[in-house]
Amino acid sequence: MATEAPPNHTPLVLPSYKEQSPEVQARFQRIYQRPVVMNVRALCKTFDSRTGPVEVLRDINFQVRRREFICVLGQSGCGKSTLIRLLAGLEQATTGAVELDEKPVEGPGPDRGMVFQSYTLFPWLTVKSNVMFGLQQKGTPKDKAEEEARRWVDLVGLTQFQDAYPYQLSGGMKQRVAIARALANQPRVLLMDEPFGALDAQTRSQMQFHLKQIWMNVDVTIVFITHDLDEAVLMADRIILLSARPGRIAEIIEVPILQPRTPEVQLDPRFIATRLRLDELIHPKTANASDVLPIQRMTAPDDEVL
Ligand SMILES: Nc1ncnc2c1ncn2[C@@H]1O[C@H](COP(=O)(O)OP(=O)(O)O)[C@@H](O)[C@H]1O
Ligand SMILES: [Mg+2]
Repeated sequence: MATEAPPNHTPLVLPSYKEQSPEVQARFQRIYQRPVVMNVRALCKTFDSRTGPVEVLRDINFQVRRREFICVLGQSGCGKSTLIRLLAGLEQATTGAVELDEKPVEGPGPDRGMVFQSYTLFPWLTVKSNVMFGLQQKGTPKDKAEEEARRWVDLVGLTQFQDAYPYQLSGGMKQRVAIARALANQPRVLLMDEPFGALDAQTRSQMQFHLKQIWMNVDVTIVFITHDLDEAVLMADRIILLSARPGRIAEIIEVPILQPRTPEVQLDPRFIATRLRLDELIHPKTANASDVLPIQRMTAPDDEVL
């Protein structure tokens, strides 16, 4: 009797995420030769709350090189927003320090631009006026501010919407204005806290692509916060992975894929290997009874869904 040959499955062999091609190695060597823009040293943050002190960040150390794209990845509540607020100078460290170009950060400043997840445009100002706002605050004369704002509005592809008001824009467009507004001040570092978190999947993917293009064409260093593994591997040169509370650095990963990256890179074994490593670190495979739902069969035995 002829038996059917078993299907010929080739198992998926993944490289180690630490394995780097010579091109990737050379790129990281170039990155490490660049000057350090941001230096985070032994940073700790504890909040006082009514129920006692809450330790949020413990001993955070890393350096960001000029024009690097850094992603800080971690689960909700692990202290990502607190970290970026410390980098921005919106929050004071309990101990440790943040330095920008070798000078301690002591408060907010125009050398750091912020983009948040929630839309923070002034609703009563047009797109162009929103972008001009920071420039005029700095004392740039109106004509000059207008000219510069127009450049940044062009750069984010909103030329036709420069006189529109925020309510007339889609979520993705609002975030593009927010990016233009932050860049108009020509910050050394752009700090982005889950900037695409509120967008639908397709818009988000477009925005990731836009941001990459902007990053490649503008002299700016980016620290980008996300809780999304795929977004981190797609965007970052290096990923700083934070553990759950108190947030500590679990690992700093050099993404072993050259820039720029297209969405198709998500099928690359090096992408999958890096993503798996992050997943392992974030969701350790410990047998946890609470992960399995106590579902009982609610249909007749011969009523199969498969
Ligand atoms: N001002 C504050 N006072 C007390 N606790 C805070 C304060 N800000 C944040 N926290 C706490 O710090 C933890 C981390 O918050 P956050 O930095 O927003 O995390 P993430 O952005 O990773 O979700 C949370 O448990 C939050 O409740
Ligand atoms: Mg947050």
